Amino acid sequence: MDRFLIEGGKKLHGTVHVSGSKNAALPILVATLLTDEPCVIHRVPNLRDVRTTLKILEYLGKKITYQNNTVTIEPNGKLKNDLPYELVKQMRASFWVAGPLLARFKQAEIPLPGGCAIGVRPVDIHLKGFEKLGATCETKAGNVLIKADKLNAAKIVLRFPSVGATQNLLMCACLIAGETILENVAKEPEIDDVIAFLNDMGADIRVGDKGQLIITGVKTLHGAEHTVVADRIETGSYALAAAATRGDVTVSGCVPEHNAILWEDLQEAGFTLDIGPDSVHVHAYDGEIKPLRVRTAPYPGFATDLQAPWMTLMTLCNGTAEVDEDIFENRFMHAPELVRMGAQISTEKSLARVTGVKELSAAHVQASDLRGGFALVMAGLCAKGQTEVERVYHIDRGYEKLEEKLTALGANIRRYNPDKDEF
Ligand code: UD1
Repeated sequence: MDRFLIEGGKKLHGTVHVSGSKNAALPILVATLLTDEPCVIHRVPNLRDVRTTLKILEYLGKKITYQNNTVTIEPNGKLKNDLPYELVKQMRASFWVAGPLLARFKQAEIPLPGGCAIGVRPVDIHLKGFEKLGATCETKAGNVLIKADKLNAAKIVLRFPSVGATQNLLMCACLIAGETILENVAKEPEIDDVIAFLNDMGADIRVGDKGQLIITGVKTLHGAEHTVVADRIETGSYALAAAATRGDVTVSGCVPEHNAILWEDLQEAGFTLDIGPDSVHVHAYDGEIKPLRVRTAPYPGFATDLQAPWMTLMTLCNGTAEVDEDIFENRFMHAPELVRMGAQISTEKSLARVTGVKELSAAHVQASDLRGGFALVMAGLCAKGQTEVERVYHIDRGYEKLEEKLTALGANIRRYNPDKDEF
């Protein structure tokens, strides 16, 4: 299994261009199941989760061409409406095919995704929504069979603004006659991108004055071409890596307003930023990093996906910072690894207290999830000496060309596989 070897202690400098958003690309690719016409999607990051999604589309009966970040999806015979566990277990977001398949076939059989390292992650909000739309959901031998004689439009109030459930129900409702209203929905920019794509395919989705989604069903959707929005989590990750290494970096090709809270927090912590229309410049800063309290929340709140990289920055603050993780119940696995690198962190339930240290020390650590993995890479970039990060496959799920981009910013990082490569 691949590892990263990082020779830390170098300030990042230069410009890094962000890729298309993984979390927008995945549901947009899945949404192509709603049509039999070809779709072309640009700026699709070449990531493990994307490749898994393409495998799923192929399994379900699509023909895929993926070149230079552009995916062309064409019909390839009759679509299937089931998915094997082998594919679902690789990525929880596989469950999102349920909505389009239910809409098209009135039936979908999908293995229930299990929990994952960051929490239990049930799908009850998805299933309750499908039931409101007229389906029955029955779990047998680990699979959930969702079926309906007839689907009906409905008003659905989500008990929590789940990103996945909002997308699943949205995609399903596009092909249901009548007006479906989704309330208490997720408002992440990735949802807006999916809505833009679906509307380009001929769907009729409006955002109501209270933020509710109003979907007027149409008979069929047609093919469309779309460019995926910039990845706001990658944007925030590089800005935080720049700040933690006390570097001077411009993150370009992003949508700065999607990270508004992060920019406020970084500035409050002491950093100077230039926020342009599609770039953010983190200026070099050698002063004290002010400890802050951040609490993760649904968008536009502090993104849970940036909590781990933020924590790495706070390990170097002057005082004690607090991080409240309110979205996932077990998203502090990076904390003990950061402690192995000299950080002072104590956690109790959803709260982490981080007392800043002068510097981190290089160590051999293990990534146990995607964003926590990036937090360890960030710590390795800050710590003098050689840090080895194991289980890079987690990080490969979400950061396109990570070594290439960091190397271009002056970092010393390389991929190494102890089973294949000479040390
Ligand atoms: C998506 C993102 C992930 C991000 C998360 C929260 C993708 C591929 N992944 O994940 O990067 O961290 O949003 O911003 O876009 N929940 C339930 N029941 C449900 C659904 C969710 O209890 O039916 C809970 C989850 O366990 C979790 C919380 O709601 O505690 C948020 O989950 P959700 O918004 O659904 O996240 P995902 O869509 O899985």
